[in-house]
Amino acid sequence: MSRQFRSLDLPEPPAELAKVSDQLCRKIRETIQAEGPISFSRYMDLALYEPGLGYYRNGLVRFGVEGDFVTAVELGDLFARCLARHLDETAGRLDEPWTLMEIGAGSGVLARDLLTHLQNPPARYLILETSGELRDRQQQLLKEFPDDLSGRIEWLDCPPTEPFVGVIVANEVIDALPVDRFVIRQGRTRELCVDWRNGALAWTETEPGPRLDAAIKRIEQDLPDGLADGFASEVCVDLPEWLASVTGSLDRGQVLLADYGYPRREYYMPGRAGGTLVCQYRHRAHFEPFFLPGLCDISSFVDFTAVAEAADGAGLSVEGFVSQSWFLLSSGILRDLEEVDEPVERSRLASQVRHLTLPGEMGEKFKVLALGREFDQAGSAFAESDQLHRL
Ligand SMILES: C[S@@+](CC[C@H](N)C(=O)[O-])C[C@H]1O[C@@H](n2cnc3c(N)ncnc32)[C@H](O)[C@@H]1O
Repeated sequence: MSRQFRSLDLPEPPAELAKVSDQLCRKIRETIQAEGPISFSRYMDLALYEPGLGYYRNGLVRFGVEGDFVTAVELGDLFARCLARHLDETAGRLDEPWTLMEIGAGSGVLARDLLTHLQNPPARYLILETSGELRDRQQQLLKEFPDDLSGRIEWLDCPPTEPFVGVIVANEVIDALPVDRFVIRQGRTRELCVDWRNGALAWTETEPGPRLDAAIKRIEQDLPDGLADGFASEVCVDLPEWLASVTGSLDRGQVLLADYGYPRREYYMPGRAGGTLVCQYRHRAHFEPFFLPGLCDISSFVDFTAVAEAADGAGLSVEGFVSQSWFLLSSGILRDLEEVDEPVERSRLASQVRHLTLPGEMGEKFKVLALGREFDQAGSAFAESDQLHRL
């Protein structure tokens, strides 16, 4: 597979990793040969989540500086310290024993750092993780905690059924949900599907399915000039069902979703006519989702207006929307820095602060959305510069 992508100028993987990708490619090819061209969401689901082979399921995924990409929680513990202060404030307002549920915990570092810094730790820390391989990794990392904390952690492979009061947190999970792709041709929507041609994965245009068609019509209603000819992008058709299912058992409390994305009018603006799909391979971003399936992360930016609409449909209120930068500044990230005098540690933290908050880094592209159920307080992290009106 990799030879046809030489033009990307990315390093060749070692032979044993290339073998995993070849196996996954064979599986995808056989699926297409059996079913015909598949939707991009089906392709993304196979590439990321096929048991034993997909990027998040093959045991190879590496977060952090040694891996393919770094999330806010992998940079160090400043994001977690700020989030812990916000959670302490929220738990205080809930005023009863609370549950924290983290969705998609990756390497488990956010759970470790939150349990380290929370003043008022939750009675239960639920981790909803679909990848058994990552769950093993999280369990390895979190077993170090003393029994009184580690005994509170429970892993789930599907949303809980028992009602609870508390907070649900998901950092960089929505961007990893499979999306469909489309392009506008002479005023009509065409779905961009995945085919197998001349020994390789290839795009093909088909009539869109009814759900995709309806989702795009809904999007166009919000755009003053509609979508121009040739405009291609993504939409997460399953988002409403996903959000309803993962939040269904929250009786009272907050849902905090942090991710990279835009309000709808910015997401589908003319300047983004190629869409927002982004792939990561050894800290290099590229835009070729057919390159080395199983060895590259594939994600798309989040349409936060779609998340707000899905929240409405799931019986959640939309309480706050700020850039990551404002969320962290309002939660005292600069105080964390000021408290440190030792020069090497201070410079390490200052670099983390820059990465997390500067507009050209993660500060503006990443946002935090607060949703509520029977709970209408976003919290002081959302008090400054709330951007709800942009959704
Ligand atoms: C980009 S990683 C982010 C990991 C971590 N939250 C972080 O910030 O470093 C996405 C995570 O979401 C998990 N995931 C993807 N889809 C999921 C779903 N439907 N339910 C629960 N977890 C999911 C993946 O297995 C992975 O742990």
